[in-house]
Formats: sequence, C-alpha cells, structure tokens
Amino acid sequence: MWTTERIADLVQPGRVHRDAYTDPAIFDLEMERIFGRAWLLLGHDSQIPRAGDFATTQMGRQPVLMVRQRGGGVSVLFNRCAHRGSTVCSAAKGTVTQFVCPYHGWTYGLDGALVAVPSPAGYPEERHPQQAGLGLAEVPRTEVYRGFVFASLAADGPSLGDFLGPLISSFDDLVDRAPEGEVEVAGGVSRHAYDGNWKFVLENHLDTIHPRYVHASSIAAANEQDDGRPTDGAGEVAVRQMRQNGAPNELWEGIGLWVAGGGHGYMADYHDDEKLVAASDDPVHVEYQRRMEAAYGTARAREILSVTRWNSIVFPNVSFMSQFGQLRIVRPIAAGRTVLDTYVFRLKGAPEEMFRRAVAFANVVNGTGSPVLTDDLEVYERLQTGLGADGNAWVDTGRGFGRDVRDGDNGLDRGGTGTSEIAVRNQFRAWAEYMTGTGATEAGGMAVAAE
Ligand code: FES
Ligand SMILES: [Fe+2]
Repeated sequence: MWTTERIADLVQPGRVHRDAYTDPAIFDLEMERIFGRAWLLLGHDSQIPRAGDFATTQMGRQPVLMVRQRGGGVSVLFNRCAHRGSTVCSAAKGTVTQFVCPYHGWTYGLDGALVAVPSPAGYPEERHPQQAGLGLAEVPRTEVYRGFVFASLAADGPSLGDFLGPLISSFDDLVDRAPEGEVEVAGGVSRHAYDGNWKFVLENHLDTIHPRYVHASSIAAANEQDDGRPTDGAGEVAVRQMRQNGAPNELWEGIGLWVAGGGHGYMADYHDDEKLVAASDDPVHVEYQRRMEAAYGTARAREILSVTRWNSIVFPNVSFMSQFGQLRIVRPIAAGRTVLDTYVFRLKGAPEEMFRRAVAFANVVNGTGSPVLTDDLEVYERLQTGLGADGNAWVDTGRGFGRDVRDGDNGLDRGGTGTSEIAVRNQFRAWAEYMTGTGATEAGGMAVAAE
C-alpha cells in the first residue's frame, strides 16, 4: 500500500528509490496524480487547421480527440462513446463532419453532442439518449497558447499561465522566430517507443554528462567527416550537431541549466559553433535575418535571435527545442514502456531551406533512424533492466547537490555548474509534490533554502 509517507520516502536529498521507475502501482498513481492533474500538451492547432479536422492522442491512459470546431476553436473530447463505451475514432488524424461510433452507429457532432442514434423509436421517450443530453464528454480544461493545445483532466488547479511559469518564454522563443509570428507542424508526427520509464527522457534532455559517453560513436564518425567536401546545408548541420556532443568538459560545465517550479527547466545553448544555428555568412541565414528584420524591426529581430536556449522541459510531458523547431511529447504506457511523438515545426515566413534543416536536425537527433536517438533509447532500456537488479535500491541524483543557486527574481534556479543534476532533482521535487499532494520537499538541494 503506497501511503503518502512511503511515497515521500522515495525521493530523498540526492537520491531516488528505484520504485519510482519500476513499480506498477506507482505508475498507476502517476497516471492519476500527475497526468490526471497537470496541464498536458496534446499537440499544435496547425495539425487541425480546418473545421472537422481531428487528431487522436492520450492524456495519461485516457483516449482523447482534439477537434477543430466550426467556430474556429479547438475542443478536446474524451474518445469514448456514450452508449457502451467504444472509442469512436481510431485514426491518428483525419477530417470528419461528424463522429460515428463503429459499434452501433451513435453519431456525434464536432462538439461531441449526440445528433443521432439508429432506430430512435427503440427508446422510451423519457430514456431517449438525446433527451438525456448524452454525448462525447469534453475534458475539464483546454487552453491554447500560441497554437499549442494544452488540456487538463482536473477541473481545478493553476491556470496554464501559472503552470508554465517562466517556461512560457520558451514557447515564445520558438514562435517569435517565425517572421510571420506563427509556426506550423509540418511533415506529420513521427513516433517511437522504448521499454523504459517515461521520466528517463525528460531527465536525459537536460543531462549534459551523457553525450560524450552515450554518443561516442556518432561523435567519432562526425569527426572523420571531411570539412572541405561540398555538402548541402542540411548535411552540414547534422555533422556539426553530432560533433558538438563531443565538446570539451569546460564547455559543458559552463552552460546554463535552469529550473523552475513544477519540474520544468531548460538548458542554455551549449553550442560554441555559430555555424550550427546562426551562421552570419550563410546565405539562407542572411535571407532569414533580412525577413526577421523586415517583420520585427532590427532591434527586436536581433533580440529574438540572440536567445540561445536549447532543450526546454515542461513536466510531465513535453521536451522541445526552439532553435530547430523540434518538439517531443512523452506518452507513458506502463512503468517500463513509453511512446514519444516527435514534431518538427515550420517557421512561417522563413526561407524553406530553414525547414529542410529542421527536418535534417530531426533526422539526426530525434528520428527513428537517427544515430543519436538510438543511443539514448538503448540506454533507457538498460536503465529499466538495471533498475530491476537487487543490491542497490537507489538512484543517485547528487551531482551538484547543495550547490544549486536560488534565483528568486525570475522564478528560476540555476545549477552551480552546467553538469549539475539539478534538473533531475527538480523534476522529482515536482513529482513528489504531485504524488503526495504536499508542498516542496528537501530533494531540490538548493544552496539557499526556499522561503
Ligand atoms: S458503443 Fe458506441 S454506439 Fe454502441
Ligand atoms: Fe542523448
């Protein structure tokens, strides 16, 4: 029986008990207390541009539909027929005028209202399903921020703005990079899965120690590439990204790792190679910069492009990277099984070549054929297997413990160095808050105590 006290004991200063990753009963509680309460990112409204467009996904274990309404808004409905409970829709996405349940044909409007049942005379008048107001229920809360569709299974709780806190600026950073001030999902959503816990990926994306080890083979291969050889911009981006994973220790120690309340955090740019992102002499980037300045004015355009944020994590289900328009949604299936949906964004108004580079980046770093991602997947599966071993029940999260710096002004705390495990501690601080329904724990390890 997982009492509040026992759950609280799993997260201790500088360490976490393996049950947090492996125990099926803990996973059940995570679905209820974390995924059942937090704001979850479901996708982007550009996936469903016209009335009747829909996409299916999950909130925790619950199947939901994201639907574009006739009035232009986006609704999130439970994918659950009001009759005997079938999902009404199994396609990943599509366009409909109404949803028809495959079992007995109950038919729903885009807003979920029941509009027809077969042989309606079969119901006594006072029990007619339409009179009773049956339909596809709407999830309790939905909010769209700059095209990003969030929903919460909890009727109460913080507003989306309060939930995102300082991390809202990471979404702004992504969208502001478009000369037209809008982004769109392009090229579909790619999906991969691994046999490991969902938290591994959120930890990994703010983990600056692992690249030199996990990605050693792609670093070596990239270093063998001949720089004099002509290549398209996309190929060059790929090679440079892989090389950067082999950056020297001093560089990793010096980068900024920032965390906020709610388990969120981000990494400031670790790339010392300006050609990777904003090559001043690159014709594509020169044209992009020209369009940005025309759209925003020189000063504002420079300000937008000077942001050097790398991965941002919004706990519990989002990891994204604004500079290359990459986003991943984490979908837990079981304690030891996770699905990741990967999105690439097109910056509206930017040269098309920018999008090609974003796709190249996705293929190198996030795609299923990527020489980088596959290394990480291998490690996630090793973690799950290793955590099943007896002899040591604890995971160590102590690197930089007690040296993290509280920065009250902007609601962010910073790792004492760029290799601090502050992000893992911070995620588990939020994890414990959700799981026990209590305030901050000691697990953060801030050098300065919380007020
Ligand atoms: S379960 Fe949907 S119509 Fe019967
Ligand atoms: Fe990695």
